[in-house]
Amino acid sequence: MPIYECIKVETENRVTTVTLDRPAKRNAMSPQLNDEMLDALTRLASDPETDVLVLTGAGESFTAGMDLQEYFRDTENDPVLSERAKWTMREWSYNRLRFFPRPTIAAVNGWCFGGGFMPLVSCDFAIAADEAQFGLSEVNWGILPGGLVTRDVVLSMGYRDALYYALTGKPFDGKRAKEVGLVNDSVPRDQLDAAVAELTGTLLALNPHTVRATKEALRHSATMNYEQATDYLAAKSAQLSARDPEQGRKKGLSQFLDTKEFKPGLGAYRRAAQDA
Ligand code: ACO
Repeated sequence: MPIYECIKVETENRVTTVTLDRPAKRNAMSPQLNDEMLDALTRLASDPETDVLVLTGAGESFTAGMDLQEYFRDTENDPVLSERAKWTMREWSYNRLRFFPRPTIAAVNGWCFGGGFMPLVSCDFAIAADEAQFGLSEVNWGILPGGLVTRDVVLSMGYRDALYYALTGKPFDGKRAKEVGLVNDSVPRDQLDAAVAELTGTLLALNPHTVRATKEALRHSATMNYEQATDYLAAKSAQLSARDPEQGRKKGLSQFLDTKEFKPGLGAYRRAAQDA
């Protein structure tokens, strides 16, 4: 993995944490940061050491959104630079992150504004610090919510709450983010790492091939009609059975029906050490 200037990438026990790392600028997303995120996510997508990806921010901020100087002002008179900056942002925070082949968790440690909602809603899970402050602040200064946030925020938040916060620009904290469904959970700041570790532990105990196929099935089938979804999901299921080196389906059935050591309703089947 290259040494980056605006992000930090660390892998430990199959969990890779990517930290937006411009604390002096509240981790605002500059074109350089976006280039680095695109490069890192492209590499990590095929990294055999990564089974879960966590995205967080350095210091007191998750991200203060797009870098108002470098992303907006410095590109406004250069259409090529501007187009490239927009493409890179959209590519990493929408396509690569949303369809990242492993589960992804946003650990929202502090400020999360504007374009920061894009990576937030693209992650599969989000856990916030109670003290974090969220805001669809674009309306405060004259632009629409960044990138595809306008479209996708209503997938994570109730429609009325999305309208309320997009139209008023009012900030809200982690507890409120949990109430409106924007995050899975909100915990005191000093318990954020533990809450993320608990979720990663749950995910790591599962068969990674099943987790990946389940994520892809949910992500892709949502935009299909019923006929397409029926066919796609049957094919996806067959693909999983054929590709899963652990043969989890067979093992799970056998551990429930034959050896009776496992109750599928209560947790993951026992994986052999060599499969993990
Ligand atoms: N873009 C560029 N620089 C930023 C950004 C940003 N989005 N946010 C903060 N900074 C910079 C500040 O200019 C300042 O730089 P300086 O020290 O060189 O002067 C430094 O980060 C610290 O910022 P402060 O405002 O002093 O920090 P504070 O902790 O008091 O406030 C807050 C933090 C609330 C996040 C504030 O900086 C802020 O409102 N930032 C903009 C948030 C926002 O609305 N973002 C959405 C942008 S639109 C979009 O993303 C599509």
